[in-house]
Amino acid sequence: MLFAVSCTRVGPHSALEPAGTQAAHIDGLWRQLLWGCTIVYGVVMAALVLAVLKHNPAPDTQDLPEAARRRVVRIVSIAVGITILVLAWFMGATLSTERQLAQLETKNPLTVKITGRQWWWEVLYEDQTPSNQFQTANEIHVPVGRPVHLRLFSADVIHSFWVPNLHGKRDLIPGRENSLWIQADRPGVYEGQCAEFCGMQHAHMRIVVVAQPEEEFEGWLQAQRRPAPEPETETQVRGREVFLANTCVMCHTVRGTTAGSRAGPDLTHLASRRTLGAASIPNTRGHLAGWILDPQTIKPGNHMPPHTFEAEELRALLDYLESLK
Ligand code: CUA
Repeated sequence: MLFAVSCTRVGPHSALEPAGTQAAHIDGLWRQLLWGCTIVYGVVMAALVLAVLKHNPAPDTQDLPEAARRRVVRIVSIAVGITILVLAWFMGATLSTERQLAQLETKNPLTVKITGRQWWWEVLYEDQTPSNQFQTANEIHVPVGRPVHLRLFSADVIHSFWVPNLHGKRDLIPGRENSLWIQADRPGVYEGQCAEFCGMQHAHMRIVVVAQPEEEFEGWLQAQRRPAPEPETETQVRGREVFLANTCVMCHTVRGTTAGSRAGPDLTHLASRRTLGAASIPNTRGHLAGWILDPQTIKPGNHMPPHTFEAEELRALLDYLESLK
C-alpha cells in the first residue's frame, strides 16, 4: 500500500497489487529492478566492509609485485564485466516490458473519452450510435477481461491519468490526444489519481475505476444511457424545481430536464456514483449537503460557488439528487 493517500478509500490503490495485464508487466519489471539493485547494493557493501576490515595501506599499484598487480587488474575487469551485464539485464527487461505493454490485444475494445479539467475528470462513453453516448464524471466502469481504449484530452492544463493497479501514467495535454489501453483482469474498485501537478486541487483530482463482469457492466451501461428518472415523490418534484430554478443549471446537465450546461460534471445519474468532488468525499446525503452549501471548505479553489437554501429547499433538493440513480 505504498501509494495509499486517501480519506475516501474505495479500493486498493497500489502499483504492487496489479489487477490487469499492463500493471502486471510493470510490477514484474519493478521487482526485477528491486532485486537486481538489492543484490548489487549487498555485494558493494560486503566489498566495502571487507576492504575496511583488511585495511592494508596499499602501496601504489606501480610498486606491487607483478602477480599482485595482475590480480588487481583481473578483479577490476570482472567487476566492470558484471556491471555491464547488470545494466544490460535492466535495459533488456525495460525494453521487453515496453514491448509487452504495446501488445495488449485490441479486439472489441470499449472506447472511453476522458477529459481532464481543473479538478475533475469528464468521462464520455463513445458509441457508434450517438444516442447511446453518455457523459459521467470521476468514475469509470469497465468490463473485466476486455481491453479499454482511453482517449485522453485536457480542457485546461496538463493532467496525468494514473490508476496504479491497472497501468502506468499517461499525460492529458491541451490541444492533443493521447491514448492509453488498459485491461482489468479481476473485478474490483480501483482508485486513481491525477499524477501531474495541475493547480490548487491537484491532490483532490482522483478517479475511481470499477471493473465489473461483462453482464453487470452491460447493466450499468444501459442504466447510464437512460435519461434521469422522473421524480416519484412530492419532495423530489419540489427538489427538481429548486434545481432548475437555481444556478445549478448554469454548470450542470441532468438529461431529461432543461439543465444542459457542461461546465461541471453531468449529474444525470449522480446518485449511482460512489464519491463527490472527484473522490474527495463519499457520496452520502450529509456530504452532498455540505458540498452544495460550502464546496470551498471541502475543496478550496474549485469552480463551484457556495449556495444558500432554505432548509425545506435543501431537503427537497437532496431528495431529488439522491433519486438520480
Ligand atoms: Cu490534474 Cu493534477
